[in-house]
Amino acid sequence: MSIRKLFRLIPSFALAALLAACGGSKPPAEEPKAPPAPARPIGAAITIQAPLGLPAVPAPAENPATAETIALGRRLYYDKALSIDNTVACASCHDPKFGFTDGKQFSEGVKGQKGDRNAPTVFNAAYATVQFWDGRAPSLEKQAEGPVANPIEMGHTLEGVEKKLSADPSYKAEFEKAYGPGPITYEKVEKAIASFERTVISGNSPFDKFMYGGDQKALSPAAQRGLTIFRDAKKGNCAVCHTIEEKSALFTDNKFHNIGVGVDTKGELTDLGRFKVTKAEADRGAFRTPSLRNIALTGPYMHNGSLKTLKEVVDFYVGGGSSNPQLDKEIKSLDHLTKKERADLEEFLKALTGEIPANVGPPEAR
Ligand code: HEC
Ligand code: HEC
Repeated sequence: MSIRKLFRLIPSFALAALLAACGGSKPPAEEPKAPPAPARPIGAAITIQAPLGLPAVPAPAENPATAETIALGRRLYYDKALSIDNTVACASCHDPKFGFTDGKQFSEGVKGQKGDRNAPTVFNAAYATVQFWDGRAPSLEKQAEGPVANPIEMGHTLEGVEKKLSADPSYKAEFEKAYGPGPITYEKVEKAIASFERTVISGNSPFDKFMYGGDQKALSPAAQRGLTIFRDAKKGNCAVCHTIEEKSALFTDNKFHNIGVGVDTKGELTDLGRFKVTKAEADRGAFRTPSLRNIALTGPYMHNGSLKTLKEVVDFYVGGGSSNPQLDKEIKSLDHLTKKERADLEEFLKALTGEIPANVGPPEAR
């Protein structure tokens, strides 16, 4: 019998005892320090109501939203104290006035520095299975660490923010109300911000009223034709990626595609996108499909903010995207669409502007 077979026959607990016995002559290893217990909101968990057209709002089991964490997260989200020089808040780049974006091609961070990607909307970010254009953050919680420590966004450090907030008695009180006694940690900061973001949900648009609310008059005839074009694989073929389900629509498949945005005159990709995360060839120039909800409010468009208007977006798709080796096979020239059909498609996109929930704007000055 081979040694391997023999080992398979020994039950694992016996094996563990055997291994422990073998190491018996060595001094006992030092007990590794247990990581601190995860911060948990102490208040009653609340269910965030999803509007017509959207599924239930997902939240991780270890961070149920409570009234206190949502209120705290809202205060933090609008607070410039999170940046090194008190000039930039999350809301500076994700401003409700611009559909929770900044309306610019590239965002401006501390000291007027510019990034190289367009700020996506925070509306309905709760539904994204991964965050950022390239999906490099696994959750809203983790995402909220990125901008604070990014030298050209908020230019701070997570420890620096902990210290700064700890020096403010009103924050100390608010954190204790939300998480119970204990120090202010960035873990609590990011959990609170994420819970607030989970309330920044927008649905009940004219499209939703038509599609899920049975209101035939909610969509104009042009937008209704646009919806048909959007879904028809032989026409717009948009819904293969910007998905519409039977009972709800996220307008994203939460997957990554290269649609030929950001190709320079030499045919080179200017931003490798998802490839930076996975190093997989197929992911070169691939970006997460953005939701199209509230799209009329959130221009300019694409990861590099290169398209200013929805008409430019439709024209871009009609052109079939810039050719490059990783171009998605679903992206093809749509020059068979008539002028009227292109205009209908644009009308449909404009019908995706939803309701903005109450209590997501800047909190009352205190
Ligand atoms: C200086 C501008 C700026 C600031 C400040 C900023 N963001 Fe962003 N945000 C961006 C940009 C640009 C991206 C896209 C970056 C990328 O994908 O690489 C982004 C991405 C995001 C996303 C991902 C959305 C998606 O669809 O993938 C969320 C959520 C978000 N930011 C929330 C926040 C929060 C919370 C804060 C404050 C802690 C914050 N942002 C501060 C510019 C900013
Ligand atoms: C193969 C999947 C795919 C198909 C098909 C597709 N899209 Fe997209 N769409 C994407 C991806 C991915 C992006 C982001 C690309 C980038 O920034 O590089 C995007 C971006 C957009 C944007 C800009 C969103 C924003 O927030 O900046 C609009 C508007 C849009 N698509 C509309 C459409 C329409 C209309 C159609 C059909 C004519 C369509 N899409 C077909 C995947 C797709």
